[in-house]
Amino acid sequence: MSNSSLMPVSESTSSSRPRVGGATVRKAKLPDAVNIFELVNSLSGDGTLLRRSYAEICENVRDFTVAESESGVFLGCGALHLYGPHLAEVRSIVVKPEAKGQGAGGKLLRALLDEAEDQGVTSVCLFTRIPDFFFHFGFRVVDRTVLPDKIYKDCQTCPRLYACDEVAMVRGPVPKVAVLGPSKFPAPELVKLQAGSLTSTPAK
Ligand SMILES: CC(C)(COP(=O)(O)OP(=O)(O)OC[C@H]1O[C@@H](n2cnc3c(N)ncnc32)[C@H](O)[C@@H]1OP(=O)(O)O)[C@@H](O)C(=O)NCCC(=O)NCCS
Repeated sequence: MSNSSLMPVSESTSSSRPRVGGATVRKAKLPDAVNIFELVNSLSGDGTLLRRSYAEICENVRDFTVAESESGVFLGCGALHLYGPHLAEVRSIVVKPEAKGQGAGGKLLRALLDEAEDQGVTSVCLFTRIPDFFFHFGFRVVDRTVLPDKIYKDCQTCPRLYACDEVAMVRGPVPKVAVLGPSKFPAPELVKLQAGSLTSTPAK
């Protein structure tokens, strides 16, 4: 049996332009995974978004926020990946073509930034081809080498490693620590829970 035969069928899409004005955002649930999978991968062929497998989306569905119309039609999604208290990344942010330019993307991004704040994360990063959209929300362009966590997570296995046309952006301070890969950055202090008390131990 192929993987696709295990997947539920996505909700039927109306050809009429959905009314996005009252779009709402909410945390994704597992039944949203198929819509997320189809929309994200519809833009992965040309490198606009990183390809995500259905299994990966299910595994990380709690990272995702979805936007939907007043009548509950899926309009788009975005994810917040947590590296640690020093850094989170906005990933897979996308709105259906017929719903673009009506505020849903902005609502998704604001929800992800609120989530980062709720988690106490100091900096949010992303790689993009459309920095102008993210300037609206307080991101600035940085040299990608200041984000070793992102490079070790995705770039090293990316087919576009030597032909990348994305810019790195950060909102908040540039992280001074990293958790992935060998790094000249110091490891952060990990908080360990020990029999009734919280102690802070430098990471090995
Ligand atoms: C980027 C994207 C999510 C924006 O969603 P959207 O619903 O069209 O955006 P909104 O209508 O909420 O726009 C919010 C603001 O950003 C501006 N904006 C939207 N798209 C923009 C773009 N490509 N470049 C510059 N500014 C943009 C809007 O004018 C608006 O500004 P305002 O608040 O001053 O009016 C959507 O265009 C998309 O899905 N693009 C394809 C996928 C993609 O490239 N994702 C980013 C990968 S890093």
